[in-house]
Amino acid sequence: MDYKNILKLVSENLYCGIFIVDKNGKVLFYNQSIHDLAGLKVENAIGKHLLEIFPRLTEETSTIMRTLKTGESLKNYVQNYYNYQDRKVTIFSSTIPLHENGQLEGVIEIFSDVEKYNNLNKSKKRNKVNGKAVYTLDNIIGSSTSKVDLKNKIRKTANSNSPVLVYGETGTGKELVVQSLHNESNRRGKPFIAQNCAAIPSTLFESILFGTKLGSFTGAQNSMGLIEAADGGTLFLDEINSMDITLQAKLLRFLQENQIRRIGDNTAHDVDVRIITALNENPYEAIKSGKLRSDLFYRLNAINFYVAPLRECKSDIVELSNYFLQHFSQKLNKNISGFSDEVLLFFHNYSWPGNVRELRHSIEHAINITEGSIITMNDMPDYVIINQQKDIIKCCNSDIPLASPAYTGPLYEQVEKFERNVIVNALKQYGCNISKTSKKLGVPRQTLYYKMDKLKIRMDKTPE
Ligand SMILES: Nc1ncnc2c1ncn2[C@@H]1O[C@H](COP(=O)(O)OP(=O)(O)OP(=O)(O)O)[C@@H](O)[C@H]1O
Ligand SMILES: [Mg+2]
Repeated sequence: MDYKNILKLVSENLYCGIFIVDKNGKVLFYNQSIHDLAGLKVENAIGKHLLEIFPRLTEETSTIMRTLKTGESLKNYVQNYYNYQDRKVTIFSSTIPLHENGQLEGVIEIFSDVEKYNNLNKSKKRNKVNGKAVYTLDNIIGSSTSKVDLKNKIRKTANSNSPVLVYGETGTGKELVVQSLHNESNRRGKPFIAQNCAAIPSTLFESILFGTKLGSFTGAQNSMGLIEAADGGTLFLDEINSMDITLQAKLLRFLQENQIRRIGDNTAHDVDVRIITALNENPYEAIKSGKLRSDLFYRLNAINFYVAPLRECKSDIVELSNYFLQHFSQKLNKNISGFSDEVLLFFHNYSWPGNVRELRHSIEHAINITEGSIITMNDMPDYVIINQQKDIIKCCNSDIPLASPAYTGPLYEQVEKFERNVIVNALKQYGCNISKTSKKLGVPRQTLYYKMDKLKIRMDKTPE
Protein backbone atom coordinates (compact mmCIF):
# COMPACT_ATOMS: atom_id res chain seq x y z
CA MET A 1 0.00 0.00 0.00
CA ASP A 2 1.21 3.49 -0.86
CA TYR A 3 0.85 5.34 2.44
CA LYS A 4 1.76 8.70 0.88
CA ASN A 5 -1.21 8.43 -1.48
CA ILE A 6 -3.48 7.30 1.32
CA LEU A 7 -2.37 10.26 3.46
CA LYS A 8 -3.07 12.57 0.51
CA LEU A 9 -6.52 11.06 -0.07
CA VAL A 10 -7.47 11.22 3.61
CA SER A 11 -6.17 14.72 4.11
CA GLU A 12 -7.99 16.03 1.02
CA ASN A 13 -11.26 14.88 2.49
CA LEU A 14 -10.76 16.16 6.00
CA TYR A 15 -12.27 19.29 7.44
CA CYS A 16 -8.84 20.20 8.69
CA GLY A 17 -5.56 21.22 7.20
CA ILE A 18 -2.17 19.56 7.50
CA PHE A 19 1.18 21.27 7.05
CA ILE A 20 4.48 19.44 7.25
CA VAL A 21 7.74 21.41 7.06
CA ASP A 22 11.34 20.25 7.15
CA LYS A 23 13.86 21.40 9.75
CA ASN A 24 14.52 24.59 7.74
CA GLY A 25 10.84 25.57 7.55
CA LYS A 26 10.38 24.47 3.91
CA VAL A 27 6.96 22.97 3.11
CA LEU A 28 7.13 19.22 2.44
CA PHE A 29 3.42 18.43 2.54
CA TYR A 30 0.30 20.53 2.49
CA ASN A 31 -3.25 19.40 1.85
CA GLN A 32 -5.78 21.56 0.11
CA SER A 33 -8.43 20.74 2.71
CA ILE A 34 -12.15 21.18 2.19
CA HIS A 35 -11.78 24.50 3.99
CA ASP A 36 -9.00 26.20 2.13
CA LEU A 37 -7.31 28.00 5.03
CA ALA A 38 -3.90 28.73 3.63
CA GLY A 39 -5.38 30.26 0.48
CA LEU A 40 -2.94 28.82 -2.04
CA LYS A 41 -2.57 25.86 -4.36
CA VAL A 42 -0.61 22.84 -3.17
CA GLU A 43 1.84 23.08 -6.07
CA ASN A 44 2.59 26.68 -5.11
CA ALA A 45 3.24 25.76 -1.49
CA ILE A 46 5.55 22.74 -1.72
CA GLY A 47 9.21 23.71 -1.47
CA LYS A 48 8.48 27.29 -0.34
CA HIS A 49 9.52 28.60 3.04
CA LEU A 50 6.62 28.91 5.48
CA LEU A 51 7.19 32.63 6.10
CA GLU A 52 7.05 33.24 2.36
CA ILE A 53 3.57 31.78 2.28
CA PHE A 54 2.40 33.68 5.36
CA PRO A 55 4.15 37.03 4.98
CA ARG A 56 2.57 38.51 8.10
CA LEU A 57 3.94 35.78 10.36
CA THR A 58 7.38 35.96 11.95
CA GLU A 59 9.76 33.52 13.62
CA GLU A 60 8.10 34.51 16.91
CA THR A 61 4.42 34.53 15.94
CA SER A 62 4.39 31.37 13.82
CA THR A 63 3.62 28.26 15.89
CA ILE A 64 5.46 26.08 13.37
CA MET A 65 8.60 28.22 13.52
CA ARG A 66 8.38 28.27 17.30
CA THR A 67 8.18 24.48 17.49
CA LEU A 68 11.10 24.22 15.08
CA LYS A 69 13.08 26.43 17.42
CA THR A 70 12.11 24.87 20.75
CA GLY A 71 11.34 21.29 19.69
CA GLU A 72 8.20 21.43 21.85
CA SER A 73 4.58 20.66 20.94
CA LEU A 74 2.01 23.43 21.02
CA LYS A 75 -1.31 21.68 21.43
CA ASN A 76 -4.85 23.11 21.18
CA TYR A 77 -4.03 26.66 20.15
CA VAL A 78 -6.45 29.14 18.70
CA GLN A 79 -4.68 31.51 16.30
CA ASN A 80 -5.67 34.41 14.14
CA TYR A 81 -3.51 35.01 11.11
CA TYR A 82 -3.57 36.40 7.57
CA ASN A 83 -3.24 33.76 4.87
CA TYR A 84 -1.57 33.87 1.47
CA GLN A 85 -4.49 35.89 0.07
CA ASP A 86 -4.35 38.23 3.06
CA ARG A 87 -7.68 36.87 4.37
CA LYS A 88 -7.95 36.83 8.15
CA VAL A 89 -8.63 33.31 9.40
CA THR A 90 -9.04 31.84 12.87
CA ILE A 91 -7.74 28.35 13.30
CA PHE A 92 -7.52 25.80 16.03
CA SER A 93 -4.20 24.00 15.82
CA SER A 94 -1.80 21.47 17.25
CA THR A 95 1.85 21.72 16.27
CA ILE A 96 4.06 18.70 16.85
CA PRO A 97 7.81 18.21 16.29
CA LEU A 98 8.91 15.28 14.09
CA HIS A 99 12.00 13.48 15.29
CA GLU A 100 14.14 10.90 13.55
CA ASN A 101 16.88 9.12 15.49
CA GLY A 102 16.54 11.73 18.21
CA GLN A 103 17.09 14.62 15.77
CA LEU A 104 14.45 17.25 14.99
CA GLU A 105 13.68 16.73 11.31
CA GLY A 106 10.60 18.84 10.87
CA VAL A 107 7.20 19.85 12.25
CA ILE A 108 3.61 18.84 11.52
CA GLU A 109 0.73 21.20 12.17
CA ILE A 110 -2.89 20.03 12.10
CA PHE A 111 -5.47 22.78 12.09
CA SER A 112 -9.18 23.43 11.59
CA ASP A 113 -11.29 26.42 10.77
CA VAL A 114 -12.95 27.79 13.91
CA GLU A 115 -15.25 30.20 12.04
CA LYS A 116 -16.58 27.56 9.66
CA TYR A 117 -17.16 25.31 12.61
CA ASN A 118 -19.06 28.01 14.49
CA ASN A 119 -21.29 28.67 11.48
CA LEU A 120 -21.94 24.97 11.08
CA ASN A 121 -22.89 24.82 14.70
CA LYS A 122 -25.17 27.83 14.53
CA SER A 123 -27.18 26.24 11.74
CA LYS A 124 -27.62 23.13 13.85
CA LYS A 125 -29.29 24.93 16.73
CA ARG A 126 -32.93 24.05 16.98
CA ASN A 127 -35.75 25.51 19.08
CA LYS A 128 -33.49 28.07 20.67
CA VAL A 129 -33.55 31.80 20.35
CA ASN A 130 -30.50 33.65 21.60
CA GLY A 131 -29.59 31.02 24.18
CA LYS A 132 -33.18 30.76 25.43
CA ALA A 133 -35.31 27.70 26.09
CA VAL A 134 -38.71 27.99 24.43
CA TYR A 135 -40.59 24.93 25.70
CA THR A 136 -42.47 24.79 29.00
CA LEU A 137 -44.36 22.06 30.82
CA ASP A 138 -47.53 23.03 28.90
CA ASN A 139 -45.87 21.87 25.70
CA ILE A 140 -45.53 18.32 27.02
CA ILE A 141 -48.72 16.63 25.85
CA GLY A 142 -49.94 13.41 27.46
CA SER A 143 -51.80 12.23 30.56
CA SER A 144 -50.37 8.73 30.91
CA THR A 145 -49.00 7.87 34.34
CA SER A 146 -45.46 8.13 33.04
CA LYS A 147 -46.05 11.64 31.59
CA VAL A 148 -47.77 12.85 34.76
CA ASP A 149 -44.91 11.47 36.88
CA LEU A 150 -42.36 13.08 34.55
CA LYS A 151 -44.00 16.50 34.81
CA ASN A 152 -44.24 16.23 38.61
CA LYS A 153 -40.59 15.30 38.81
CA ILE A 154 -39.66 18.30 36.63
CA ARG A 155 -41.58 20.59 39.00
CA LYS A 156 -40.00 19.03 42.09
CA THR A 157 -36.40 19.12 40.89
CA ALA A 158 -36.41 22.35 38.88
CA ASN A 159 -34.81 24.50 41.57
CA SER A 160 -32.11 22.07 42.56
CA ASN A 161 -28.59 22.72 41.31
CA SER A 162 -27.73 19.03 41.00
CA PRO A 163 -26.77 17.75 37.57
CA VAL A 164 -29.44 15.93 35.58
CA LEU A 165 -29.28 13.01 33.18
CA VAL A 166 -32.14 12.51 30.74
CA TYR A 167 -32.37 9.19 28.98
CA GLY A 168 -34.86 8.14 26.34
CA GLU A 169 -35.02 6.75 22.83
CA THR A 170 -34.85 9.11 19.89
CA GLY A 171 -37.94 11.29 19.42
CA THR A 172 -39.40 10.73 22.89
CA GLY A 173 -39.26 14.42 23.86
CA LYS A 174 -35.97 14.80 25.79
CA GLU A 175 -35.43 18.32 24.42
CA LEU A 176 -38.88 19.29 25.71
CA VAL A 177 -38.08 17.90 29.14
CA VAL A 178 -34.74 19.72 29.36
CA GLN A 179 -36.09 23.09 28.24
CA SER A 180 -39.13 22.78 30.52
CA LEU A 181 -36.84 22.01 33.44
CA HIS A 182 -34.87 25.22 32.79
CA ASN A 183 -38.03 27.30 32.36
CA GLU A 184 -39.58 25.85 35.50
CA SER A 185 -36.47 26.71 37.55
CA ASN A 186 -35.38 30.03 39.01
CA ARG A 187 -32.65 30.01 36.35
CA ARG A 188 -35.30 30.95 33.76
CA GLY A 189 -34.40 34.30 32.27
CA LYS A 190 -30.73 33.34 32.49
CA PRO A 191 -28.88 31.68 29.60
CA PHE A 192 -29.90 28.27 28.35
CA ILE A 193 -27.04 26.99 26.22
CA ALA A 194 -27.45 23.71 24.36
CA GLN A 195 -24.70 21.82 22.64
CA ASN A 196 -24.84 18.50 20.87
CA CYS A 197 -21.63 16.68 21.76
CA ALA A 198 -21.75 14.62 18.54
CA ALA A 199 -21.59 17.80 16.45
CA ILE A 200 -18.13 18.94 17.53
CA PRO A 201 -14.80 17.43 16.51
CA SER A 202 -13.20 16.18 19.72
CA THR A 203 -10.06 18.30 19.10
CA LEU A 204 -12.16 21.45 19.30
CA PHE A 205 -14.50 20.53 22.10
CA GLU A 206 -12.28 21.24 25.08
CA SER A 207 -11.67 24.84 24.03
CA ILE A 208 -15.34 25.31 23.14
CA LEU A 209 -16.42 24.01 26.53
CA PHE A 210 -13.82 25.70 28.73
CA GLY A 211 -12.67 28.65 26.56
CA THR A 212 -9.11 29.68 25.82
CA LYS A 213 -6.59 32.16 27.08
CA LEU A 214 -3.88 32.58 24.56
CA GLY A 215 -0.19 33.08 24.71
CA SER A 216 0.63 36.62 23.62
CA PHE A 217 2.86 35.32 20.80
CA THR A 218 -0.12 34.10 18.83
CA GLY A 219 -1.75 37.51 18.81
CA ALA A 220 -5.18 35.92 19.25
CA GLN A 221 -7.86 37.02 21.66
CA ASN A 222 -9.24 35.23 24.69
CA SER A 223 -12.40 33.29 24.07
CA MET A 224 -15.16 32.34 26.46
CA GLY A 225 -16.29 28.72 26.61
CA LEU A 226 -19.85 27.37 26.77
CA ILE A 227 -19.68 26.81 30.53
CA GLU A 228 -18.87 30.46 31.19
CA ALA A 229 -21.44 31.57 28.62
CA ALA A 230 -24.09 29.68 30.58
CA ASP A 231 -23.10 31.26 33.92
CA GLY A 232 -26.18 31.68 36.12
CA GLY A 233 -28.20 29.44 33.82
CA THR A 234 -28.19 25.96 32.34
CA LEU A 235 -25.82 24.14 30.02
CA PHE A 236 -27.46 21.26 28.16
CA LEU A 237 -24.99 18.73 26.75
CA ASP A 238 -26.91 16.46 24.40
CA GLU A 239 -25.60 13.02 23.33
CA ILE A 240 -23.07 13.05 26.17
CA ASN A 241 -22.01 9.53 25.14
CA SER A 242 -20.38 11.09 22.06
CA MET A 243 -18.08 13.26 24.15
CA ASP A 244 -14.45 12.20 24.09
CA ILE A 245 -13.70 10.08 27.15
CA THR A 246 -10.77 12.24 28.34
CA LEU A 247 -12.92 15.35 28.08
CA GLN A 248 -15.56 13.54 30.14
CA ALA A 249 -12.97 13.40 32.95
CA LYS A 250 -12.47 17.17 32.68
CA LEU A 251 -16.21 17.75 32.79
CA LEU A 252 -16.38 15.61 35.92
CA ARG A 253 -13.70 17.75 37.51
CA PHE A 254 -15.72 20.85 36.74
CA LEU A 255 -18.82 19.25 38.29
CA GLN A 256 -16.85 18.52 41.45
CA GLU A 257 -15.18 21.93 41.75
CA ASN A 258 -17.64 24.31 40.05
CA GLN A 259 -14.62 26.15 38.75
CA ILE A 260 -13.26 26.42 35.27
CA ARG A 261 -9.84 27.14 33.94
CA ARG A 262 -9.61 28.33 30.34
CA ILE A 263 -7.05 26.46 28.23
CA GLY A 264 -3.73 28.23 28.66
CA ASP A 265 -4.89 30.02 31.82
CA ASN A 266 -3.43 29.32 35.23
CA THR A 267 -6.21 30.84 37.27
CA ALA A 268 -9.57 29.22 37.91
CA HIS A 269 -12.94 31.04 38.00
CA ASP A 270 -16.09 30.16 39.92
CA VAL A 271 -19.02 29.43 37.64
CA ASP A 272 -22.63 28.76 38.62
CA VAL A 273 -24.05 26.49 35.94
CA ARG A 274 -26.52 23.66 36.11
CA ILE A 275 -25.45 20.85 33.82
CA ILE A 276 -28.13 18.79 32.10
CA THR A 277 -27.09 15.92 29.88
CA ALA A 278 -29.02 13.59 27.63
CA LEU A 279 -28.41 10.38 25.78
CA ASN A 280 -30.56 8.15 23.62
CA GLU A 281 -28.98 4.84 24.52
CA ASN A 282 -29.21 3.02 27.80
CA PRO A 283 -26.52 4.62 30.03
CA TYR A 284 -25.46 1.25 31.43
CA GLU A 285 -24.92 -0.03 27.88
CA ALA A 286 -22.95 3.15 27.11
CA ILE A 287 -20.73 2.51 30.15
CA LYS A 288 -20.24 -1.10 29.12
CA SER A 289 -19.16 -0.14 25.61
CA GLY A 290 -16.74 2.49 26.95
CA LYS A 291 -18.67 5.50 25.62
CA LEU A 292 -19.57 6.90 29.02
CA ARG A 293 -17.29 7.08 32.06
CA SER A 294 -18.96 5.42 35.02
CA ASP A 295 -17.66 8.06 37.49
CA LEU A 296 -19.15 10.83 35.34
CA PHE A 297 -22.39 8.88 35.00
CA TYR A 298 -22.82 8.57 38.78
CA ARG A 299 -22.19 12.30 39.19
CA LEU A 300 -24.55 13.26 36.36
CA ASN A 301 -27.18 10.84 37.47
CA ALA A 302 -27.87 12.74 40.73
CA ILE A 303 -31.28 13.41 39.22
CA ASN A 304 -32.40 11.26 36.34
CA PHE A 305 -35.34 11.32 33.97
CA TYR A 306 -36.40 8.38 31.89
CA VAL A 307 -38.56 9.46 28.98
CA ALA A 308 -40.56 6.39 28.04
CA PRO A 309 -40.97 5.34 24.40
CA LEU A 310 -44.40 5.87 22.88
CA ARG A 311 -45.15 2.14 22.79
CA GLU A 312 -44.90 2.15 26.60
CA CYS A 313 -47.43 4.97 26.99
CA LYS A 314 -50.03 4.12 24.42
CA SER A 315 -52.71 6.02 26.28
CA ASP A 316 -50.99 9.26 25.17
CA ILE A 317 -51.39 8.44 21.49
CA VAL A 318 -54.92 9.78 21.01
CA GLU A 319 -54.19 13.02 22.88
CA LEU A 320 -50.96 13.57 20.95
CA SER A 321 -52.63 12.71 17.63
CA ASN A 322 -55.46 15.19 18.20
CA TYR A 323 -52.96 17.84 19.24
CA PHE A 324 -50.87 17.36 16.09
CA LEU A 325 -54.04 17.16 13.95
CA GLN A 326 -55.20 20.51 15.24
CA HIS A 327 -51.73 22.03 14.96
CA PHE A 328 -51.13 21.02 11.33
CA SER A 329 -54.73 21.57 10.16
CA GLN A 330 -54.43 25.13 11.35
CA LYS A 331 -50.97 25.59 9.91
CA LEU A 332 -51.93 24.15 6.53
CA ASN A 333 -55.32 25.81 6.57
CA LYS A 334 -57.27 22.56 6.19
CA ASN A 335 -60.55 21.51 7.73
CA ILE A 336 -59.97 17.99 9.02
CA SER A 337 -62.16 16.64 11.78
CA GLY A 338 -60.33 13.47 12.86
CA PHE A 339 -58.99 10.01 12.05
CA SER A 340 -60.74 6.89 10.71
CA ASP A 341 -61.14 3.99 13.17
CA GLU A 342 -58.65 2.02 11.10
CA VAL A 343 -56.03 4.75 11.56
CA LEU A 344 -56.65 4.97 15.30
CA LEU A 345 -56.32 1.21 15.61
CA PHE A 346 -53.15 1.33 13.56
CA PHE A 347 -51.78 4.11 15.78
CA HIS A 348 -52.50 1.97 18.79
CA ASN A 349 -50.90 -1.19 17.43
CA TYR A 350 -47.85 0.21 15.65
CA SER A 351 -44.52 0.07 17.55
CA TRP A 352 -43.47 3.69 16.75
CA PRO A 353 -39.69 3.17 16.58
CA GLY A 354 -39.27 6.93 15.98
CA ASN A 355 -41.62 7.70 18.91
CA VAL A 356 -43.49 11.04 19.13
CA ARG A 357 -41.39 12.54 16.34
CA GLU A 358 -42.56 9.77 13.99
CA LEU A 359 -46.20 10.23 15.03
CA ARG A 360 -45.92 13.98 14.48
CA HIS A 361 -44.34 13.57 11.04
CA SER A 362 -46.88 10.92 9.99
CA ILE A 363 -49.75 13.26 10.86
CA GLU A 364 -48.09 16.19 9.14
CA HIS A 365 -47.65 14.02 6.03
CA ALA A 366 -51.26 12.80 6.14
CA ILE A 367 -52.68 16.31 6.52
CA ASN A 368 -50.59 17.53 3.61
CA ILE A 369 -51.85 14.89 1.21
CA THR A 370 -55.40 14.13 2.36
CA GLU A 371 -58.27 15.24 0.20
CA GLY A 372 -61.02 14.19 2.58
CA SER A 373 -62.26 15.52 5.89
CA ILE A 374 -60.80 12.67 7.94
CA ILE A 375 -57.39 10.98 7.85
CA THR A 376 -57.50 7.43 6.44
CA MET A 377 -54.84 4.73 6.05
CA ASN A 378 -54.31 5.88 2.45
CA ASP A 379 -52.95 9.16 3.77
CA MET A 380 -50.30 7.53 5.96
CA PRO A 381 -46.68 7.68 4.76
CA ASP A 382 -45.42 4.56 2.96
CA TYR A 383 -42.49 4.00 5.29
CA VAL A 384 -44.79 3.68 8.30
CA ILE A 385 -46.82 1.00 6.49
CA ILE A 386 -43.61 -0.81 5.53
CA ASN A 387 -42.36 -0.66 9.13
CA GLN A 388 -45.68 -2.01 10.30
CA GLN A 389 -45.37 -4.98 7.94
CA LYS A 390 -41.88 -5.64 9.29
CA ASP A 391 -43.38 -5.60 12.78
CA ILE A 392 -45.91 -8.21 11.76
CA ILE A 393 -43.24 -10.40 10.20
CA LYS A 394 -41.24 -10.21 13.44
CA CYS A 395 -44.39 -11.00 15.33
CA CYS A 396 -45.26 -13.97 13.11
CA ASN A 397 -41.71 -15.27 13.47
CA SER A 398 -41.61 -14.70 17.19
CA ASP A 399 -42.08 -17.39 19.77
CA ILE A 400 -45.70 -16.65 20.59
CA PRO A 401 -46.97 -20.19 20.78
CA LEU A 402 -49.55 -20.94 18.15
CA ALA A 403 -52.46 -23.05 19.32
CA SER A 404 -51.93 -26.70 18.59
CA PRO A 405 -54.54 -28.55 16.53
CA ALA A 406 -55.60 -30.43 19.65
CA TYR A 407 -57.35 -27.49 21.30
CA THR A 408 -58.51 -27.76 24.87
CA GLY A 409 -60.28 -25.49 27.30
CA PRO A 410 -63.58 -23.63 27.13
CA LEU A 411 -65.22 -23.23 23.73
CA TYR A 412 -64.60 -19.48 23.39
CA GLU A 413 -60.87 -19.98 24.09
CA GLN A 414 -60.63 -22.77 21.53
CA VAL A 415 -62.39 -20.62 18.95
CA GLU A 416 -60.03 -17.71 19.67
CA LYS A 417 -56.96 -19.91 19.34
CA PHE A 418 -58.23 -21.30 16.09
CA GLU A 419 -59.07 -17.85 14.74
CA ARG A 420 -55.65 -16.57 15.75
CA ASN A 421 -53.98 -19.44 13.94
CA VAL A 422 -55.95 -18.79 10.77
CA ILE A 423 -55.09 -15.08 10.75
CA VAL A 424 -51.36 -15.55 11.50
CA ASN A 425 -51.07 -18.18 8.78
CA ALA A 426 -52.86 -15.98 6.25
CA LEU A 427 -50.62 -13.02 7.17
CA LYS A 428 -47.58 -15.19 6.62
CA GLN A 429 -48.94 -16.47 3.32
CA TYR A 430 -49.52 -12.95 1.98
CA GLY A 431 -46.26 -11.48 3.24
CA CYS A 432 -48.14 -9.53 5.90
CA ASN A 433 -50.02 -7.53 3.30
CA ILE A 434 -53.16 -6.43 5.13
CA SER A 435 -55.27 -5.82 1.99
CA LYS A 436 -54.51 -9.23 0.48
CA THR A 437 -54.97 -11.02 3.81
CA SER A 438 -58.32 -9.38 4.49
CA LYS A 439 -59.48 -10.22 0.94
CA LYS A 440 -58.44 -13.85 1.36
CA LEU A 441 -60.22 -14.12 4.70
CA GLY A 442 -63.27 -12.30 3.38
CA VAL A 443 -63.28 -9.61 6.08
CA PRO A 444 -62.85 -5.83 5.75
CA ARG A 445 -59.37 -4.48 6.58
CA GLN A 446 -60.83 -2.71 9.57
CA THR A 447 -62.19 -5.99 10.95
CA LEU A 448 -58.82 -7.65 10.39
CA TYR A 449 -57.08 -4.88 12.34
CA TYR A 450 -59.69 -5.20 15.07
CA LYS A 451 -59.21 -8.98 15.32
CA MET A 452 -55.43 -8.68 15.28
CA ASP A 453 -55.69 -6.29 18.18
CA LYS A 454 -58.14 -8.45 20.10
CA LEU A 455 -56.18 -11.65 19.51
CA LYS A 456 -52.90 -9.95 20.42
CA ILE A 457 -51.38 -10.39 16.99
CA ARG A 458 -49.39 -7.32 17.80
CA MET A 459 -47.43 -4.98 15.59
CA ASP A 460 -44.94 -4.64 18.43
CA LYS A 461 -41.82 -6.72 18.57
CA THR A 462 -42.82 -7.97 22.01
CA PRO A 463 -46.49 -8.85 22.21
CA GLU A 464 -48.17 -7.57 25.35
N1 LIG B 1 -44.97 14.81 24.97
C1 LIG B 1 -44.85 15.54 23.85
N2 LIG B 1 -45.77 16.48 23.54
C2 LIG B 1 -45.70 17.20 22.39
N3 LIG B 1 -44.72 17.05 21.48
C3 LIG B 1 -43.77 16.14 21.75
C4 LIG B 1 -43.78 15.35 22.92
N4 LIG B 1 -42.71 14.53 22.91
C5 LIG B 1 -42.03 14.82 21.77
N5 LIG B 1 -42.68 15.78 21.07
C6 LIG B 1 -42.28 16.32 19.76
O1 LIG B 1 -41.57 15.28 19.09
C7 LIG B 1 -40.44 15.79 18.43
C8 LIG B 1 -39.18 15.15 18.99
O2 LIG B 1 -38.97 15.58 20.32
P1 LIG B 1 -37.50 15.89 20.90
O3 LIG B 1 -36.70 16.62 19.89
O4 LIG B 1 -37.67 16.51 22.23
O5 LIG B 1 -36.97 14.39 21.02
P2 LIG B 1 -35.57 13.85 21.59
O6 LIG B 1 -35.91 12.83 22.63
O7 LIG B 1 -34.73 14.99 21.99
O8 LIG B 1 -35.00 13.09 20.31
P3 LIG B 1 -33.45 12.86 19.86
O9 LIG B 1 -32.88 11.82 20.80
O10 LIG B 1 -33.57 12.33 18.48
O11 LIG B 1 -32.77 14.18 19.95
C9 LIG B 1 -40.46 17.30 18.63
O12 LIG B 1 -41.13 17.87 17.52
C10 LIG B 1 -41.30 17.47 19.88
O13 LIG B 1 -41.92 18.71 19.90
MG1 LIG C 1 -32.87 15.72 21.26
